[in-house]
Parts: sequence; C-alpha cells; structure tokens
Amino acid sequence: MSFNPLKEKGLPFEKQLRNWHQIVAKPYKKQKVDCYTRTRQILMNGIEVESWGFKHQFNRFMTEIDDKDRANISRIGRIENQQQMTCNWLCPQDQSVLETTLGYEQVAVDLTAWLAQNEPDKYVKETFDFGLLEDFDHLYRYAQYAYMREGIEPNDIVQGQTDVIIGRPTQHHHNCNGLRLRKHYDKTTTSPQTKVNILTVLSGEQQTHNFYAEHGFMYGDHVLRETYAEIKDVEEEHVTMYESLIDPSESMFEKLLLHEFTEVCNYYTCLEDEVDEEIKKYWEIFLDMELEHLKIAADIFKKYEKRDPEEVIGSEIIIPCRFQSQKAYVQKILEKEINKRLAPNGEYYNSMDEIPEDWASYKVQEKVSEISAPSENCINVVKFYHDRDIVVASENLKNKEVTLLEKGLQKRASADNTVTPDMLQSMIDKHEKRKEEKNKII
Ligand SMILES: [Fe+2]
Ligand SMILES: [Fe+2]
Ligand SMILES: [Fe+2]
Ligand SMILES: [Fe+2]
Repeated sequence: MSFNPLKEKGLPFEKQLRNWHQIVAKPYKKQKVDCYTRTRQILMNGIEVESWGFKHQFNRFMTEIDDKDRANISRIGRIENQQQMTCNWLCPQDQSVLETTLGYEQVAVDLTAWLAQNEPDKYVKETFDFGLLEDFDHLYRYAQYAYMREGIEPNDIVQGQTDVIIGRPTQHHHNCNGLRLRKHYDKTTTSPQTKVNILTVLSGEQQTHNFYAEHGFMYGDHVLRETYAEIKDVEEEHVTMYESLIDPSESMFEKLLLHEFTEVCNYYTCLEDEVDEEIKKYWEIFLDMELEHLKIAADIFKKYEKRDPEEVIGSEIIIPCRFQSQKAYVQKILEKEINKRLAPNGEYYNSMDEIPEDWASYKVQEKVSEISAPSENCINVVKFYHDRDIVVASENLKNKEVTLLEKGLQKRASADNTVTPDMLQSMIDKHEKRKEEKNKII
C-alpha cells in the first residue's frame, strides 16, 4: 500500500502537548531489550535533537517570515523537545556509559551500511562506506574498554548482529577538516531518498559526538577519557563530512520541510520494525505528530516559496533506518577499502599509497598523536587482561585480522604506541597457546 506522507492525516497540533508522566516513559530493561530496539531509541534521540536545534537556528536567522509562522515553528520545537526526552530517557539508569557507547557505534555501523546499500547517488554511497569503516573501528576500540572496566562482552550489547574487529585504525581518522568537506549534491536533481539518508546519518553522528562530549569524562581512567576525546573528535569530522554533502543553497523553508519529512520517514520505519510492543506505541504516536509537523512545514513552504512540496520530498515514504545485521556487507567493504583515505583535492578518495608527502592530514595526525594514540592503548592495555584483543567475528574474518591491519595501517604519522601487525600476531599466538594450556588443565 502506498503511503504519501503529505496526504496522511496526523495528530492535530493542539493535542500534541503532553504531561510529565507521558513524557518520561518507562525505560527498557537492558538485559532484555532487543539490540535494534536500542539502536532505534538512540537514533531517534539524535533525530529529535537535530530537529529541535534546527528550529532554533531557523527562528534566530530568518527575517522573511511573519509572526504567526514563527510562533508555530517555535511551538513545534517544544514538541520536538518533549519527543527527544521520551526517546532518550527510554535508556535505563543502569546501562553504563560504555554499554550505551557500544550501542551508539552499533547504530553507526548498521545504519550506515543500510544507507550505503540504499543510496542511489554513487558518490554519497562511497562517503557512507568511508564513514562506516571508521565507526566500525570505534566499536572495536570501545569494546576493549567495556571488557576491561566493566566485564562487558561485546555480544552483551550487539547480540551477535554486528562484528567487532579492527577497522581502519582510529589514529588514521584524524584529517584536515578542509579535506573532510565533500562535494555537495544538487538540490534540484537529487532524489528525496539521498536527502533523507544524509540528514538521518548526520543526525546520528552529531548525537554521537554530543554523547561522547557529555559522558567521556565520567570515567576516572585517563586513557579511557583520552579515548573518548579522540573518538569524539572523529565524530566531529563525521558531522563535517556528512553535512557538507548537503546543498548549501537549499532555503531554510526547504530545510524545514526536509527535517519534518526525515522525522516522518524514520518513525515510519521504527513503527514497521519494532518488536517491543510498549515502545512501538511511542513510534506510532510520534509518527502521527510528525505527519502534522510535516503538514505545517509544507504549508509554510508553499506560502513563502510558492512551490509544490512534492518537488522536494516526492510523494512516497522512504525507509532510512531499517536496522538489521549487516555483517556480510561490512566485511566486503572492510576488506576492500580499509586502506582508503581522503584525497588531497578534498573531493574524492584515494588508496593510501596514492597520498602525496604533503597530504594536509599528516600534519593533523602527527600533532594529535605526538605523545601516543589512546585508541592504540586500548589494545596495549587489554592484552594484559586477555593476552590479545577482544574480537567477535566469524573464524574466517578473525583469521584475516592481522592482514587487515597490515593493509589499513599507515607508514607515516603512526603513533609511537601503535600496535603493529607483528605485535598483534604475537598476542594472538600467545592467546592460542594459553587456551591449549588451559584445556590441558581442565
Ligand atoms: Fe520530532
Ligand atoms: Fe564512531
Ligand atoms: Fe561516526
Ligand atoms: Fe517534527
């Protein structure tokens, strides 16, 4: 059945304000929740934060709008704020910062992989694949700490749906921000799907950045604090990268329309996929609210731009966040593109051996890692607890870890504390030997 969001009836705006009991929902149980319910909860918080923040920017900067419409945008912003609280606070108080962090990186991996496979624009797809391998490595680095500090096995959070193994090493994600800037799409020719895909991943990445900014200090361990700082800084680059794909000449009215449409599409997908009956009720009511926001945004767009909203968002729903296991796709990209880097002209991608000596990102990497790279220390430290790194993957992929590291590691601008392929191999050998010894005792 076709679903045209512009033709669907939403919840009347005067019924959207809720009381505190309704706003603060009952959290899920971390031991029972489906990992993809958690990823939906994390993503929708990010979507709401973006939608709320955008409305404030809109009202701060826009002069060509009358008082009635400005007031309406402000009223919708209040509703986004209430939705954000509901989404974010579904998270239970006993879910640790590291557990939630693994959830954030699982969002990034499985969402970006879904988007890459459902992205009609080849260049945008390539950018998704590029970002994907970086968040994939973040998941691995945090998993080391989750194990060391809190005894959390990766599968306690990712539930066997997402592999946890080395990706493009985090110390090589630090670039000159100028190089992170991508070519933007053309608003007149690009499909609504591309626009929604980008705004969805951008909202997720921005919230990941904010979460690390607000929680990385909550551990006393200095190396872990530094790891949060390092990865947070990469998320800043991800925000820079994904937002630069957006045509900056879109009007604020167009952007308002796209924000509401993106919310509709994401709640629609959540509602279709949700397995938790209690949480599903929120996706349903929030979808109804967003259909009304979209209608108001479409009316404002028509009034000021004198154009048909379908020119921007089309007439069909888009599925931007279908969470499902993406192991096969991620492994394919990992093996093919772990050695990819941002090209010096700031538009394309190169393999590592095509990068010139004066590549602007070398300077950034040499500076930030001049003492050491915290993300490398994750492995250096976990080996004392576990002989080798914490990895969850098929035997086939596990057997390729050292080769992957060889392919992904740069010769230049690597930190002094880098775990080399030889070091990793010897950790693995030691671990295997210990396993044999342990088996003999048992
Ligand atoms: Fe919203
Ligand atoms: Fe990440
Ligand atoms: Fe990211
Ligand atoms: Fe909205």
